[in-house]
Amino acid sequence: MATGTLNTDQGGSAGAPPGGGGRARLAGRTLRTDRWWVPPALTAAGLLFFIAYGTFRIFTSRWYYVSDYRYLAPFYSPCLSDSCVGDSNAGFPTFVPSLPTWLSPAFIILIFPAGFRLTCYYYRKAYYRAFWLSPPACAVAEPHTKYTGETRFPLIFQNVHRYFFYAAIVVAGILTYDVVLAFHDPDGGIGMGLGTLILLVNVVFIWAYTLSCHSCRSIVGGRLNHFSKHPVRYWFWQQVSKLNAQHMLLAWVSLFTVLLADFYVLLVSSGAISDLRFF
Ligand code: FES
Repeated sequence: MATGTLNTDQGGSAGAPPGGGGRARLAGRTLRTDRWWVPPALTAAGLLFFIAYGTFRIFTSRWYYVSDYRYLAPFYSPCLSDSCVGDSNAGFPTFVPSLPTWLSPAFIILIFPAGFRLTCYYYRKAYYRAFWLSPPACAVAEPHTKYTGETRFPLIFQNVHRYFFYAAIVVAGILTYDVVLAFHDPDGGIGMGLGTLILLVNVVFIWAYTLSCHSCRSIVGGRLNHFSKHPVRYWFWQQVSKLNAQHMLLAWVSLFTVLLADFYVLLVSSGAISDLRFF
C-alpha cells in the first residue's frame, strides 16, 4: 500500500527538468511498496568493494607485472615512471622520474580510467542513488531540500565526460597492446596462458563498455539531420546503439574483469600461484 501521495503543487512536477522546476514532492517517505532499497544497497556494496580493492592495489606498488609472460596489471598500464619494474613500461617512455615508495606508478594514469567511470552517465545515477540518496529510488523522498542537478559547481564538471571518453579510447588501445605483448613465450616466440586469456577477456569488455558510452553514441550519430545521407555513420550509430542498450551491464562486467585481471596478475607475480600455460 502506498505510504504517501505525489504532490505536484509544491514547486515541482514528476517530469520537471533538472534545475527547472525542482523535484516532485512526496507527502510521505515513499510511494513504493516493494523492496526499493535493494538495488541501491547492492550498488553501494559493489562500488565500495571495487573502491577498497582499487585503493589497496594502487598503494601496493608491487606485484603488478609478470616479466616471464609480460602480464601487466590494468591498474598500472601504461607504466610511465622510472619506478616501473623491469620492462613493464612496454616500450613507453618513462618520463616520470622515480617515485617515493608511498606513491605508485598507478597514480600517474589513474585519472583517466577513474575520471571516465566517475563521470559516466550510468555510474552517476548509481552513486547519486546509492551514496547521496539523491534520490535513493524512483518515488522515494530524498533527504536533500535543494536540487540543482548538474548545473552548479562542483557537479557541473561532470560535463567533461566526453573528453574522458577520448582518453578512454587511448587507454583501451594501450590495454589491447598489453594483450598482444602477453602472447609471449619466455623461451621465445608466441605463448599463451590463462593470464593471457584473462587479459584478453578484460580488454574485450573494456572496449564494449567504452564504445557503449552515451558520448560515443552522440559523437557517432549526433549533429546529423538526415541519416540517409550518411549511411556509414548510420551503420556505426546502429552498432553503438546496440551496445549502448547494455551500458549498465557492461559497466559492471568490465569493472569485474578489470578486478579479475589485476588480481590474477597479483597472484602470479607474487608467486602465490603459477600461470596455467596452454602453449
Ligand atoms: Fe557511461 Fe560514457 S556514459 S561511459
